[in-house]
This record gives sequence, structure tokens and C-alpha cells, in this order.
Amino acid sequence: MLDLTNKGVQFKLAFLSQALQGAEDAIVFGDIYVVEGGYSVKCLEFGCKRVTLVDVVETCGWLNERLKNKKLNFYKGDFSNTLFMKSIPEQYDVSIAFDVLLHQPPLINTLQLMLEKTKRRICIVQPMLVEFKTPNVLVYLPGCGNTDLHPMKKDVSNVNIFDVMQVNQSYWIWGMTPSFMKSVLKGSGFDVIYENDGPSLANERWFTWGCIAERKTVATGHWVNCGPQRDIIEPNW
Ligand SMILES: C[S@@+](CC[C@H](N)C(=O)[O-])C[C@H]1O[C@@H](n2cnc3c(N)ncnc32)[C@H](O)[C@@H]1O
Repeated sequence: MLDLTNKGVQFKLAFLSQALQGAEDAIVFGDIYVVEGGYSVKCLEFGCKRVTLVDVVETCGWLNERLKNKKLNFYKGDFSNTLFMKSIPEQYDVSIAFDVLLHQPPLINTLQLMLEKTKRRICIVQPMLVEFKTPNVLVYLPGCGNTDLHPMKKDVSNVNIFDVMQVNQSYWIWGMTPSFMKSVLKGSGFDVIYENDGPSLANERWFTWGCIAERKTVATGHWVNCGPQRDIIEPNW
């Protein structure tokens, strides 16, 4: 299911083995398209006792894999949907998000939902934009129409990108910079403890990047922890 000769796959597997050190269990977000649960199976090989895959799609190949192995679990649904994610009661030592966040229209909320399922570490690998002069740049790709930013440049028909009327999970929605990702993770209480650059893409403005972020602090000032404000007794303005 995984093409082990592919440099991108090798890069993800190196991250996976590092992120899973000492982990009992893992949750893998989006692991069906082309790979049919390949990274989930690898999590077991790297020592996990239980692995849960979440995807909107299922295939015969993945169903056969699950029948062979009782340590594999599956939730079929949209991990960007808050109500669906609430139906997954467990937390997992490690969360895996390979090539999925760039496809999520509600990006920061989706990442937050993943982090809420994460006890210790999250491992993210995906195509990213090279840093701009200003840090924390996030580019909304639909309607951008900028072929300078096309990740494949020469093979422009091969990737779903730039269509302003197709804001969905089959399209590339976000061009993220590593500084943006690190700031969002930090705000949610996760520090990046390891990062690395992977294989280049056809367009030199894009590259593969991965990180492992660990739960460090309770993010009391984060929006998920800021409920409705109490009435202001003594206004200070
Ligand atoms: C680009 S593929 C990546 C597959 C694999 N992780 C890899 O790195 O090769 C994205 C996968 O995530 C799934 N996916 C994307 N957005 C999703 C969402 N919001 N909820 C559930 N599954 C989603 C797709 O069905 C697909 O299987």
C-alpha cells in the first residue's frame, strides 16, 4: 500500500518512527487516498498496541486490512466536523496528520479538534510554502490564480488548486509557512520539538516540511478556553 521507494513516503516514515517512540496508541487523520491505511499499519509495526484511522472514505483494501488485524480501528467521518469529533471519546498518545491540513477549509478549528484527541504529540508532514519576509504567512489558494504558486508548476492539471468555486477537502486550500504552523501549535499549548525539510516540489516556492509537536502548557488564553465573559462589574475604559 505504501510505495517504499518514494522519497516522500520515506520522509513520512522517518517522522512516524520518531513520533511514536514510547507510544501505546495513535490516531491517524486521513490515510485512505492511494495508501489505504498504509501509515496506520506502520504505526503497529512501530510498536503501537492500538491504532485508529479517521477518514471520510473507505475502500475494500482497508476493510480487508482491518479484518486481518483487530488492533486497527476506524471512524468514518469528517474530522473537520466538531460534532463528529465529539463522538470519538478517546485521547491518543500520538496524532498523525500527513497531507491533510492543507485541504481543510476550517483550518485552525480542524487542527484544534485533532489536538483535543492528542495526549502527548502530534506529527505533521505536508507541502508548505517557503517563508516570506513576514513570518506567519498563510495563503488562501482558491481564487488566487497565481500560477507562480502552483506546487507542480509544469504539470498544472494534475493537482486540484486555485478554483474559487471548489472550497472543499479534495482541493488545496492553504499554502502555509512553518512559522504560521508553529505559532498556531504554540497557541494551543504544543511546542515543536523537532522539524525537518523533506523532498522539494517542482516549484521551488514549495517544499515538504514536517514537525513533531509536544503538549507542554495549558493554553488558558486560547479561544477554546475563553467562554462567554462574565458581566463587567467595573468598566475600566
Ligand atoms: C491527500 S490524502 C493523504 C493520504 C495519506 N495521509 C498520505 O500522506 O499519503 C488525504 C486523505 O485525507 C482524507 N480527508 C481529507 N479531509 C478529510 C476530512 N475533513 N475528514 C476525513 N477525512 C479527510 C481523504 O479522504 C484522504 O484519504
